[in-house]
Amino acid sequence: MTTDEFRKHAHELVEWMASYMENVENYPVKSSVEPGEIFNKIPDNPPEHSESFDQVMMDFDRILMPGITHWQNPNFFAYFPSNTSPSSILAEMLTSTLASQCMIWETSPAAAELEEKMMIWLRDMIGLPPEFEGVIQDSASTATLAAILTAREKISNYSINNEGAEHAGTLKVYCSDQTHSSVEKAVKICGIGRKNLVKISVKQDFSMDPEKLNEAIINDKKRGHIPCCVVATLGTTGTTAVDSIMSIGAICRENGIWLHVDAAMAGTALILPEFQWMLEGREYIDSFLFNPHKWMFTNFDCTAFFVKDAGALIRTFEILPEYLKTRTRGKVNDYRDWGVPLGRRFRALKLWSVIRTYGTEGLRGKIRYHISLAASLSEMILKEADFEILAPVIISLVCFRYKPSGLKEDQLNLLNEKLNHLLNDSGKIYLSHTVLNNKYTLRMVTAQTNVTLEHVEKAWDLIMKTARGLNS
Ligand SMILES: Cc1ncc(COP(=O)(O)O)c(C=O)c1O
Repeated sequence: MTTDEFRKHAHELVEWMASYMENVENYPVKSSVEPGEIFNKIPDNPPEHSESFDQVMMDFDRILMPGITHWQNPNFFAYFPSNTSPSSILAEMLTSTLASQCMIWETSPAAAELEEKMMIWLRDMIGLPPEFEGVIQDSASTATLAAILTAREKISNYSINNEGAEHAGTLKVYCSDQTHSSVEKAVKICGIGRKNLVKISVKQDFSMDPEKLNEAIINDKKRGHIPCCVVATLGTTGTTAVDSIMSIGAICRENGIWLHVDAAMAGTALILPEFQWMLEGREYIDSFLFNPHKWMFTNFDCTAFFVKDAGALIRTFEILPEYLKTRTRGKVNDYRDWGVPLGRRFRALKLWSVIRTYGTEGLRGKIRYHISLAASLSEMILKEADFEILAPVIISLVCFRYKPSGLKEDQLNLLNEKLNHLLNDSGKIYLSHTVLNNKYTLRMVTAQTNVTLEHVEKAWDLIMKTARGLNS
């Protein structure tokens, strides 16, 4: 493709992108293709001869678009959002055009230094203490793995990386039974072992019970096990419950245990002074993550990962083959030493673009609005006698179910599951679910970049009508 041809296609593509943004609401939110449907439409072999980009684009529209679930549709209320914004998309265009490999400072000093500055901006925006240093990871799962590996190295005096785990004893990691599965995955693959992940029960508000944590640690120590890391969550996936950093942190400090905080979704709410209470006890935190790629309008992937002792992180991950030695080593941040991958995309650029174009005031306004939508939705639900809210509404998630009178618990579960599928199959809205105290629970997140009160009202109307239609 010549640059002139590229220019032509790029202009056309920008038209496609802008009209997609304008029309995204008209697409069915959730794709309704059958398994294998897309796969079978793609030829079994690659083309021998060059095809034009127009042909690629035609097949993109014809074959792939029906198999896309439209996360940027404001009627997307499922999971947690994976938001974007025009300024983030524009920055991503620059990033893919530069296609720089930002593994070490020398391979793109601007990327390393912008990343360092962006992590300072974010740290200060969310209220982490100034001794924290940050790095961008691809995902919360990777950042949690990095945190647990660092905790493992620190507790073993950095011996497991060198010697293996044979003589390290039985390390224990603790989290609540509401914690995201990425912690279980990390414990599974970092050599600590799934059976050494202790899931602590939660209080009525679904936050970790610190007394139960304390008991578990005492019992493990009595058995000669080595408590290594506690993962606390600000904003659990199921209900956005907030674990008490203050109480959990004091227990960690007393026992010399690494405290990692997963604030993947709720971390963005920390930019609001009225949500700073979630970070009380911040002095106890060793590592912390949140996902601008969820709620801060920055394209996936972008996880902000902060550590108090960056030296411990670097000591866990650094490795220095001859071909990566530079004259600037030690004077600059070589982020390849701050996590698993060597190669790194220039992700700081989209953060810079988003924060500058919204401004911190603009970001605060948008987050506050999303939180107010969840409050409005809970008011709507509370007005209806045949619906109930099943968890405290803290940020932008409401957990509820349809509960017509006269039905037993298992019938209610089946009814709500059916309701969820019916709503999602309609293509009009998309919700997800969880199970709370054995109750099938609908989750509705009011945090998509462009969601408005009107979308929430219409969605609620549809939910009520569909639910009552099911039971009539
Ligand atoms: C609390 C929490 N932690 C971690 C994750 C995993 O995020 P990622 O996809 O960035 O690994 C999620 C995903 O929704 C989450 O809700």
